[in-house]
Amino acid sequence: MFDFAARPDADTATIWDDLVAAADGVTAGERDGIANMANVAALCWELLPDLNWAGFYRMIDDELVLGPFQGRAACIRIALGRGVCGTAAATKATQRIDDVHAFPGHIACDAASASELVVPLVVAGRVIGVLDLDSPMPGRFTPADAAGAERLCAMIAARLVG
Ligand code: SME
Repeated sequence: MFDFAARPDADTATIWDDLVAAADGVTAGERDGIANMANVAALCWELLPDLNWAGFYRMIDDELVLGPFQGRAACIRIALGRGVCGTAAATKATQRIDDVHAFPGHIACDAASASELVVPLVVAGRVIGVLDLDSPMPGRFTPADAAGAERLCAMIAARLVG
């Protein structure tokens, strides 16, 4: 059993330090990418406050396909360039969206989502998927969250393949 203590009142950088360390711990030495995505989604869900969805989309045949996640059942396939996730994958750039309703083409999987953070997972220059975090709070994700999520994705991306 893994037992990581959530510290929702800690500052954002500390929360991400905890999350990166926990993700490193659970994925190191495991070569199954789906298992690693499942555990990292669970850690995001447990350690990051105020989320209503946390998980992965995998790039399969130039399309994003739903991967392991926590939260409500979600859209299964997202075309490159569509929505926040497809934009992150197509541009290889983090998307930090304070108000999803103002994002052109936002795909509403859960009407409760108000803000979103999506980070592309890049391995050897290729986007292999995205990490998607949703919150019911407008403006939930700060630049410190984007930096933390990018740190997490840089550390785990290669462990999510295979
Ligand atoms: N809102 C996302 C779709 C995925 S769900 O939020 C889980 C988007 O616009 O790409």
